[in-house]
Amino acid sequence: MLALPLRAAPLVVPADHALQFAEQQLTATVSEVNDPTRFPRSTLSDGSWRIEDSGAWTSGFFPGCLWLMFQRTSGSTWRTWASSWTAQMEGEKNDTSSHDVGFKIFCSFGNGYRLTFDPAYRDVVIAGARSLATRYSPIVGCTRSWNNRHFPVIIDNIMNLEILFWAARHGGDPAWYDMAVSHALKTRQNHVRADGSTYHLVDYDPNTGAVLGKETVQGYSTESTWARGQAWAVYGFTMTYRETGDARFLDTARQVADYFIDHLPTDHVPYWDFEAPNIPNEKKDSSAAAIAASGLLELSTLVTDGASRTRYREAAFQVLESLCSPAYLAEGTTSSGILLHGVGNKPANTEVDVSLIYGDYYFIEALLRYVTLATDVAPALEGYLLEPPLPNPFDSGMHVGFQVPRACHVEVSIVDVRGAGIRTLARGEYSPGRYGVTWNGARRDGTPAPSGTYFCVFRAGSFHQTRKIRLIR
Ligand code: GLY
Repeated sequence: MLALPLRAAPLVVPADHALQFAEQQLTATVSEVNDPTRFPRSTLSDGSWRIEDSGAWTSGFFPGCLWLMFQRTSGSTWRTWASSWTAQMEGEKNDTSSHDVGFKIFCSFGNGYRLTFDPAYRDVVIAGARSLATRYSPIVGCTRSWNNRHFPVIIDNIMNLEILFWAARHGGDPAWYDMAVSHALKTRQNHVRADGSTYHLVDYDPNTGAVLGKETVQGYSTESTWARGQAWAVYGFTMTYRETGDARFLDTARQVADYFIDHLPTDHVPYWDFEAPNIPNEKKDSSAAAIAASGLLELSTLVTDGASRTRYREAAFQVLESLCSPAYLAEGTTSSGILLHGVGNKPANTEVDVSLIYGDYYFIEALLRYVTLATDVAPALEGYLLEPPLPNPFDSGMHVGFQVPRACHVEVSIVDVRGAGIRTLARGEYSPGRYGVTWNGARRDGTPAPSGTYFCVFRAGSFHQTRKIRLIR
């Protein structure tokens, strides 16, 4: 299937202005917090940051914001600040008390490694993934989110599969990949409703894996749809498809994205719950909008038909345009944050109508993705053989097909489970078209690679997709 060529993206989002404002707010936050052992979480009534220590689930987002600013500017000051706050969270790699170790470590150390290739950062990410993996039950087929109830799994947890996927191909245990796939399949089965909406929490029997109950903690009611939970699902299933190429995850990503888009109010920013009882007199949650916008932008690069690509991209543009407007951008207000109008936990009446550090983090990520998309390419891998069937034996080679919608730099490489390069299949400037390369199971020097797990990594611009390969000789 050949995708329609992309039309040039209309630059409708004032991303540069919003990113400049983000730089300004984060610089001021560094001065306000002034201590890398303290982590901003949400704003208080006077607009200043409520601070927590590194144990909070939100701690990784501030260093994550600083890393994203380093990505944008290459400025050494951003790198220094990001490194300082990141270093102070290292102890969190050993946190086995909840799934949040993924948020904490991947947003801080994960971004640090992505942008600096410092091997010490990689080791911390692997340790964090190892901690998360201790929460995996082969009976339930999921990592456990919290320690109450029987075996609760919240929709948010799908976000933390990314650290397992990543670590499995950078020197961690390749079994973490299978755990992540299993968790995502269970989440698809039990959290996602037929109409594409989601439950917040599914409680499993740890002895049998049976579903004991479904409920919400941060949403309005069991059968309603908590907006941020839906946003986590949009982002998380999209990421899971990027990491696996399993079409079931693309189907689910589309389903939850369609629900999100189709239930947005006219300003494209959701209420804190899609079925909150007093809509339109309910609070909006800008964090849900930011998370979903980032996920939708990635989804638009993974679908292969032009109409879907346009739908998801333009939905994301509309959300971002609204978030960049004076209605949501904190410019000219007393807030130390970047986005106004986030909701942490409405039922508990905490962090209602405030700036949230994770809303700011995904907003910046979405803006950077937007800028890249508007000026870069949206590639798609296709024709790739996935398990099952395994792309083996290797006598005739394994074919990797990809398409390039706009002229760009492309790299297709095979890496081992330590992340070390085994073979580069393609590298260079590609003009628009459809291409295929073959891996015959050999290393760079022509000698045969041994049986084992490998990953094919496809990069174009800042976008990438990976596929697991099992080579059996
Ligand atoms: N992961 C917690 C929240 O989204 O509020």
